[in-house]
Amino acid sequence: TVDAEGRRVFDLRAGAGSHDFGRGAAPTWGFNGSYLGPTLRATRGEKVLVNVSNALAEETSVHWHGMHLPAAMDGGPHQSIAPGGTWSPTWTVNQPAATLWYHPHPHGTTAEHVYRGLAGMFIVDDPATSVGALPHEYGVDDIPVIVQDKRLDGDGRLDESNPAFSGAGILGGTIAVNGTVDPFLDVTTERVRLRLLNGSNVRSYDFGFADDRRFALVGTDGGLLSAPHGTNRIMLSPGERAEIVVTVRAGERAILRSTPPKLGLGGIADRFNGGADSFDILELRAAPTLAARPQVPARLVDVPRLDPATAAQRRTFTLSGHSINGRKMEHERVDAAVLKDSVEVWKVTSNDGEPHSFHVHDVQFQVSTMDGKAPPPQLAGWKDTIYLTPGVRFEIIARFADYADPATPYMFHCHTLYHEDRGMMGQFVVV
Ligand code: C2O
Ligand code: CU
Ligand code: CU
Repeated sequence: TVDAEGRRVFDLRAGAGSHDFGRGAAPTWGFNGSYLGPTLRATRGEKVLVNVSNALAEETSVHWHGMHLPAAMDGGPHQSIAPGGTWSPTWTVNQPAATLWYHPHPHGTTAEHVYRGLAGMFIVDDPATSVGALPHEYGVDDIPVIVQDKRLDGDGRLDESNPAFSGAGILGGTIAVNGTVDPFLDVTTERVRLRLLNGSNVRSYDFGFADDRRFALVGTDGGLLSAPHGTNRIMLSPGERAEIVVTVRAGERAILRSTPPKLGLGGIADRFNGGADSFDILELRAAPTLAARPQVPARLVDVPRLDPATAAQRRTFTLSGHSINGRKMEHERVDAAVLKDSVEVWKVTSNDGEPHSFHVHDVQFQVSTMDGKAPPPQLAGWKDTIYLTPGVRFEIIARFADYADPATPYMFHCHTLYHEDRGMMGQFVVV
């Protein structure tokens, strides 16, 4: 709905319910329902207002992951919502078409809140960057695919205890896609776009198809790529997204499968963090006759490269021991005051042999180099979260445009939620 001031209004209510992961009813949380939340969708230039109410018995918050917006609307731990309370952030959507998402961010309990089911997708459309030749009929040939792993106890309930051998939190052996275990999708078109979101706490996936067919990677976290990247694998760590377009043949069954992701932690640590695991994720069941869909165009959108020579500032962040630069998150911590509209280069590395991904609020960044070399195609577009292969020196570059607020910080952190909760998070202000 659109209100009198022309704002697109959404209502989200975080509450408790129950959901079946295949072995009976389990207590879960959700937005406007028992598990996960509705897909929100807005167009660039639109002003949005989200009324987020908290019907839980504890405080939470809702963060718009990947969204460019004022810090006071960001939904981090500084915008917490008390039980019974409502928080109503409003902002103007101003970024390229992309697959974003939303989830709680209360410091210390984000992992539990997301694991219990508080998450949803937020799709941004933009007439200038929404390539009409790509499949775009939501629910028909354009499908949200929220992938999460769950650990179930003997009664089919969510087991929230951290496994003894992982220093990274809850790792489960049951895969739920949009909350459904053993899911299938009836496909009626010869091409389908899957908006993959890794909404898991710590598990990374290396997505591909069981028959190893190639598909087109068309978008990453913050928007479409300049050109499709033909590949048979795309790895996503927690928080990352990918838009892929896959072609199916009439009557066939194609299985989206995750094979062991290259975590690079070293043999045993790899195994304890899911680095040896394979899962069938989603079965595509193609109808006997399929509606035609255009080829994926050879060029998609302009992705202007940010030039490190224009950087006003360079900073270094090292992730290690549940800390960033040796410090843990505190409310008052401010690591950087970034000048509004300036470009910065951040050197980011992880070196403690644990699975870390690096996420920055407010901006979409580019990977300018990895160990001094140009990034591979899947890291060449807009990103807000990247897996930090241990020991690899990443240089990322971003412009911190539009919004300054010296009093309200944005976060950057490891998106392994257990690490984030343990304090692997820093803060910056834009001034
Ligand atoms: Cu997806 Cu700071 O979070
Ligand atoms: Cu975020
Ligand atoms: Cu981490």
